[in-house]
Parts: sequence; C-alpha cells; structure tokens
Amino acid sequence: MTDPVLASNNQWDEGSSQSFLAEGDIFVPARLEQINTLLDLIPAGRDEVFTIAELAAGGGELGEMILDRFSHCHYLALDGSEMMLAQLHERLARFRGRVTIRQFDIAAQEWRTQLPTQLRCVLSSLCVHHLFGTEKRQLFHDMRKALEPGGGLLLADVIKPADERIAQLFARQYDEIVREQSLVARGDLSGFQHFNELEWNYFRYDYNLPDTDTIDHPSLLNDQLRWLSEVGFSMIDCYWMRAGHAVFGGYK
Ligand SMILES: C[S@@+](CC[C@H](N)C(=O)[O-])C[C@H]1O[C@@H](n2cnc3c(N)ncnc32)[C@H](O)[C@@H]1O
Repeated sequence: MTDPVLASNNQWDEGSSQSFLAEGDIFVPARLEQINTLLDLIPAGRDEVFTIAELAAGGGELGEMILDRFSHCHYLALDGSEMMLAQLHERLARFRGRVTIRQFDIAAQEWRTQLPTQLRCVLSSLCVHHLFGTEKRQLFHDMRKALEPGGGLLLADVIKPADERIAQLFARQYDEIVREQSLVARGDLSGFQHFNELEWNYFRYDYNLPDTDTIDHPSLLNDQLRWLSEVGFSMIDCYWMRAGHAVFGGYK
C-alpha cells in the first residue's frame, strides 16, 4: 500500500508499518521497560486533567497505556501511516471522547501550529531519528513552544554511535537482545531471523550508509541533549539507555 504522506518523503513505508506492528515487541530492545520509563516521566498526577500529544504514535501501544494510567487526560495521536492510523482508531476506540487521531508528516511545519494550546507533554518513540540534526533541533524548539510551563518533551529513540567501534558494540548488544526476546516471546529464533532478513539492526546495516541511502538519521545523544538545552529545556537527561536506544528529554 502506498501512503501519500510518507511516500512523498521517501521515508517509512507501509511494509515497515506492517513489520513493526507484527514484530515490534521483538525488534525493540526492552520495549516494555522503555514504555514504562516514558510513562513514569510524564509530569502529571493520575487524576489530573491535561492534554498530551504523541508524535508518530504507531499502533497505539504507548497511547493505550497513557490513557489507562491517566484517566482524565486527553490524548492526541499523530502518525503518517494509514495503516497505523487505522490501528490507532481500532485500539483506542474504547477511550472515544478522550482521543484525537490525525495524520501528519513529522518533518512538515503546519501541524506544529495546529497543536492544542497548553500541552502538558509531547512524547515520541522511534521516529525522531528520521529527521536530520537541524530538523531535530527545530522540532525541539517548536515542541517547547507548544508546552505549558513544567511540561515535558520525552523521546525514546535510536542514537548515533560515536564511532565505528561503538557502532559494532551497539550492533552486537542489539542482536543479543532481539535474539533473547525472540526466544522468550516465541520459544524459537523466528523473530530474530526475520529481524536479520529485514536488516532491521541500524548499527549493523545502516550506520555506514550515506544519508541518501537510508531513512534513518540518528544523532549523537550528546548533540540532542545540547540542542534541548539551547532551545531552553531544563532537567535534561538521558533517563534510560540500552543497545543504542535511549529515553531522553527535558522539561519547560
Ligand atoms: C518504529 S515505528 C514506532 C511507532 C510507535 N511510536 C511505537 O514506538 O510503537 C515508527 C512510526 O513512525 C511513523 N513515521 C515514520 N516516518 C514518519 C513521518 N515522516 N511522519 C509521520 N510519521 C512517521 C510510522 O508510521 C510509524 O508509526
């Protein structure tokens, strides 16, 4: 299936959405740990009324847990993929009045001016690395503008290794985790085999490619923490990290 928003940018395609929906829990290192880290970092009480936005919300796994934990929050889910949007509608149907779902291209500008005013939190998992460095910095700036005081920008993402040796270390760590996760989830290595067939391990297959040959453009964690600081965030930190995947962000 060709998706107008994503196809026009030669980025993530519906085949990637299908693979991620089917095997994301095996392909992402310690996925539940990452999701729980993001949940714990949301600056809100469980009974508070507030609005939260998720950029590239995918199939709604994190969104569903947010809506369950924060029983009075309103949740805005944005994604570029038709398949993910359909999945979001289905998965979040039981939260009807508390959910808004919209299509967007994370690299575009218009959606940034159409966000609800006074957002408590902006989250994004595994998408910001599709942007180039200058675009990431601009996104951090624009999201800070959309946040209310005390609000948080919280990201889970692949990070760029500092050099080839560290890329190899991350590649090996990532393979080991996915191998283990395949065994735990399925009792066999089929998930790990598929991960290899799809060449999903960025550190093994994409790290050395020129920008024109890959949709993945991770930045150094150090650079991203600095950009967060430069655009005015505080309490900036990396809150969790494993196999080249980090949860990081800051507060307004
Ligand atoms: C690896 S999945 C992660 C999904 C979800 N955040 C999660 O962690 O389960 C990447 C997501 O980013 C979305 N995406 C990729 N490129 C995009 C773009 N340029 N604009 C909007 N969404 C995009 C995909 O449709 C997909 O849902």
